[in-house]
Amino acid sequence: MNLLEGRKYNIITFGCQMNEHDSETISGMLQEKGCREVLTKEESDITVINTCSIRENADKRFFGTLGQLKKIKEKNPQYIACVCGCMMQQQHIIDTVKKKYPWVDIIFGTHNIDRFPQLLEKVACEKQKIFEIMEDRQDIVENLPAKRLFRHKAFVNIMYGCNNFCTYCIVPYTRGREKNRHPEDILDEVRGLVGDGVNEVTLLGQNVNSYRGRGKKAEDTDTVCDFADLIYMLNDVEGLERIRFMTSHPKDLSDKLIQAYVDCDKLCNYIHLPVQSGSDSILQAMNRKYSREHYLELVRKLTEAVPGITVSTDIIVGFPGETEADFEETLSLVKQVKYDSAFTFLYSIRKGTPAAEYDDQIPESIKHERFNRLVDAVNEASAHNNAAYVGRIEKVLVDGRSKRKDNTLTGRTEGFKLVDFPGDDSLIGQIVNIEITEGKTFSLFGKVVQRHAAF
Ligand code: 5AD
Ligand code: SF4
Repeated sequence: MNLLEGRKYNIITFGCQMNEHDSETISGMLQEKGCREVLTKEESDITVINTCSIRENADKRFFGTLGQLKKIKEKNPQYIACVCGCMMQQQHIIDTVKKKYPWVDIIFGTHNIDRFPQLLEKVACEKQKIFEIMEDRQDIVENLPAKRLFRHKAFVNIMYGCNNFCTYCIVPYTRGREKNRHPEDILDEVRGLVGDGVNEVTLLGQNVNSYRGRGKKAEDTDTVCDFADLIYMLNDVEGLERIRFMTSHPKDLSDKLIQAYVDCDKLCNYIHLPVQSGSDSILQAMNRKYSREHYLELVRKLTEAVPGITVSTDIIVGFPGETEADFEETLSLVKQVKYDSAFTFLYSIRKGTPAAEYDDQIPESIKHERFNRLVDAVNEASAHNNAAYVGRIEKVLVDGRSKRKDNTLTGRTEGFKLVDFPGDDSLIGQIVNIEITEGKTFSLFGKVVQRHAAF
């Protein structure tokens, strides 16, 4: 008997695209067991909270949400509360959950997502709690199902983990060491997705530029496929229209990859290239392994080889020891690069990382003051760039209805710019030519020119 058949589930996801994709996998596995997704945790019999340990607010919001599950459990004795994701790879968090939130039934981590259905069945049958975490893992579990957020676009993991140990970052401790999928497995997955109606894939990894996949067959195990090779292979997949990737580390961005932008028409003219700081001494203290000059040289090469490429980044303000002069270096870099967008972060201590122990932590008031100046500079650059789009015709992959304005659709240009425009639902999932009529700080507005035929 399948104890899970017909049960209603709700997944709450915090954090990055890697987590979003893990949640798609969890959702796919639950649907295979006959469960049905519902929109709120209050209507559900099973709630899964997929946690993030990067953003400080994410953990505050996590504990807040976890508190709310108690009431649901009191009303529904069958209810199963589950938590997973990066935070669960940290012992001090598990201890807090066990001590302060005893209504949690299942804890699992980032390395054993595949085990979730079995854990759930056991809990449903035996009515006991299960906490199962793996420290790290060598193998990669293939062929897990995924219930995609979008019909027409998909995330595809190409690698897991990170070996870089930036001094502020918890990811190498929560996601383990780098592991690469075989190129054949990635290709098979992408072909399958295209057969299922997908026209855009986003390749995921903490540092996709260091991807080194090896062939599966005995005679191919010595053949290394690097990230650029993988892009060339995927560019040949018939029916696929767009390839994106997240995230790339500047220290590993090769000339070969820059050439792939030139050669591969499906690789979108967009790069997310986290800089973190514009100051050499802070970059060194962060263990980023590149200089400001090297970074700027990469951007110069990219913009020269790929005219019109859009560039976004991640920046941390208030890293321990950051002086006003260091911060001004970051500001000047932002003004020089003129990013299309940037994720800006206030440095926050992550227990267990080297920077958490540094004694020259920056007062919150200074961090906030710098943060505001940084956001102003970033917004000015993106507003400036977006204004220049007016009058252009952009190919937009239509994602769905816009939440920002009634009767409009929303989608992304090749350069990952958000565009809203009037249109009907039949365009969702298609690539459409849009004439840009307005460029705002965070998005563009336009109108349909004509339907896009294959290009
Ligand atoms: N404090 C602030 N920002 C951080 N990030 C990672 N760790 C921290 C931290 N401790 C940011 C980096 C990274 C992004 C995903 O999160 O900018 O690129
Ligand atoms: Fe964290 Fe650095 Fe690895 Fe990115 S490259 S996940 S910032 S340690």
